[in-house]
This record gives sequence, C-alpha cells and structure tokens, in this order.
Amino acid sequence: MWAALVGLAAFVSLGTACTPSITTASGTHAPVTICSGELIFADDFYELDLEKWQHELTLSGGGNWEFQWYNNNRTNSFAHDGILFLRPSLLSEQTGEAFLSNGVLNIEGGAPADRCTNAAFFGCERTGSPQNIINPIKSARLRTVDTFRFRYGRVEVFAKMPAGDWIWPAIWMMPSHNAYGTWPSSGEIDITESRGNRNLLHHGVHIGTHEAGSTLHYGPSPTLNGWEHAHWVRRNPAGYDTGFHRYQLEWTPDYIKFSIDDVELGRVQPGNGGFWEHGGFNRHPGIENPWRYGSKMAPFDEKFYIILNVAVGGTQGFFPDDNIYNPTPKPWSNISPTAATDFWNARHNWLPTWNLNHNDGKDASMQVDYVRVWAL
Ligand SMILES: *[C@@H]1O[C@H](CO)[C@@H](O)[C@H](O)[C@H]1NC(C)=O
Repeated sequence: MWAALVGLAAFVSLGTACTPSITTASGTHAPVTICSGELIFADDFYELDLEKWQHELTLSGGGNWEFQWYNNNRTNSFAHDGILFLRPSLLSEQTGEAFLSNGVLNIEGGAPADRCTNAAFFGCERTGSPQNIINPIKSARLRTVDTFRFRYGRVEVFAKMPAGDWIWPAIWMMPSHNAYGTWPSSGEIDITESRGNRNLLHHGVHIGTHEAGSTLHYGPSPTLNGWEHAHWVRRNPAGYDTGFHRYQLEWTPDYIKFSIDDVELGRVQPGNGGFWEHGGFNRHPGIENPWRYGSKMAPFDEKFYIILNVAVGGTQGFFPDDNIYNPTPKPWSNISPTAATDFWNARHNWLPTWNLNHNDGKDASMQVDYVRVWAL
C-alpha cells in the first residue's frame, strides 16, 4: 500500500513537472513529448554520431561557386576527445595535382550513404579544365535534416572558429520543408559565420577572425532578400579562432535573438506586418507576399534543421573584392570566370596560413564542443 502510494505520488509529480512547450520537433532524434525548458537535442561529440548527423556530399559550392567538395572522410570530419573537427584539406593530396585540371570527379555512389546530396550547380560531377579546375579543397558539412527538425527553441553551440585565409565556417539552420517556397522565401538562420583570415581588413575594419556575424535571410526571391535588416557582427580582438565561445539563438513566436556568450548581438521582433514589412517588401507593389497566411514570424514559424560546415572562398561576396587588405592579396575576383583556378594558383600565399602540417590541421578546423537545443 505504501509503495503504491509513493509510486502514485512520484507519478503525479512527474506528470505536473511537464509544462507542455510551444516548441515542436520531428525526426528520428526528436522527443515524442516536449516539456517546457527541456533539452531536446544534444551532442557532446564523444563520437561522430552519424545517427544524428548526415554528411552532405556535393561539389555544388553553396550556390556561390565555393571551392570545396563536401565529402564523408575522416580527414575532413572527425571527433576527438569530445570535440568535433571540420577540417579542410587539399584534393590534390588524394588525386594528384594534374587531376584538378584534367580529371572528371563524379561523386554519385550507389549505397544509400554514398548518394550525392545536392546536384545543383554541377554538384554531383565536375570536369576539370585549366580555366575551370575541379574544387581543389575537400571539406565537410553535417546536417540534422532527417534526425532533428524543430520550430522555436534555444540553441547553443560551443565552438572555436578556424584560422586560415579564405576559410568560411558556419553554424546555421535551413528550413526543413520550404513551406513558403524556395530560397530565400522559407528563410535561413545563420547563427554564426566568420572568416579565417587572421588579418583581413575591409575599409580598415578587421573582418577576419576578429569578427563573427549572425544573419537572417528572408524574402520573396533571391534578388529581394531582407538580410541587411537582420545582420549583426561582433568584434573580438583576441580572435574567435583562439578560444571556444557559446554561439546562441533564441527563437520564439515573438522574436529571434542572437547572442555570443550570453551577450546579445541583435534581435528581430517584427510587428504585425511581419517580416514582409520588416524587409520593406511592402514597398514593392505587385509582388505577392508568400507569408500572407503565416504568422507574423513567417517564414520563421516552420521547422528548421541544423548545419555545421567549413566552406572556402566563393564568389558571392562574403569575401569582398574592394577596399580590402590582406597580407597577401585576395587571389580571385568575385566576377572572375576562373575563380577556383585563380585561388589554387595562389596557394603559396594562403596554404601556409592554414597550418595543415601542424597539430593535425586543428588550427584550420572548426571545432565544436557541443550542440544543445532546448524547448521554450
Ligand atoms: C580520404 O581523404 C584522404 C586525404 O585526402 C585520401 O587520401 C583518402 O583517399 C580519402 N578516402 C577515400 C575513401 O576517398
């Protein structure tokens, strides 16, 4: 009798301890019931858990002709002592240098784990020529698209950014279902991005390892993107490559807030006009608002998944052409039709800054100690 009463009491208090959350989640690693404040996704990277993280396999270059091939190889992604390393390396080490300008790289495989994940922009096969070499860098990009998708919550990633010229690390999220249409209509949440250059100035301001930025992308078309209204940077003269920091997102039905080490970087709290008004798209007559039947947070009122990657270069302007200073010049122009070749030909300048031969290339790696997501 006593045992039964105690059991009942424990059951009751457990039951009342769970306040249902407005956070929702799905995927193989999403909890079935979600209590307010609960940790709903976590990885401490004591192993590279491929039940949680899927490698993207593509030469696509992020839609902006970045210079890397995202592959599944322990040279480029591995867990060691509770840290995830995403580490760039040279393709020529594997294929020989001539292959870059005269080989054919087809990355489509037959096994489920070997399928090319993004065919856009010749993402599954590239043919090298002297003008247009095959992506010369190998790197890694991991995502939770099948395992954990969520709407609203708090994210914290404890990470150290890589150092090395033209390296572009990112911790970010993409919409699971494109509920409002293709990019950027369904949004993009960039929790943090930085540049690996230790000494890159833009208009005299350090935009390399001393800077980390957070951005929302949203808009009715790729040319109408409101990101300038939702972009913040923070400078740290010690460099984000010299220590671990907590990169944080708070995402609620009222606002989206980015912080680093609990210090707010910026937030968006749209009014009743939502992101349509926030982005100023109401000033463009004749364009239909894809979010008109969503909430005021639309497109950020649908599920997103987490992405961790290390990219290199690219021509969309993350590495600007004008008014920049780097100890060695930027090797490619963003309008060059031979950008990857130009980059590769200048490797005597950038490769030494990557320190790949020192400490197993850990300086050039993005290092992630943990990823945690809590329900609101
Ligand atoms: C993994 O990467 C290393 C270094 O680039 C390379 O030598 C090796 O062949 C790769 N493995 C596979 C299976 O592609």
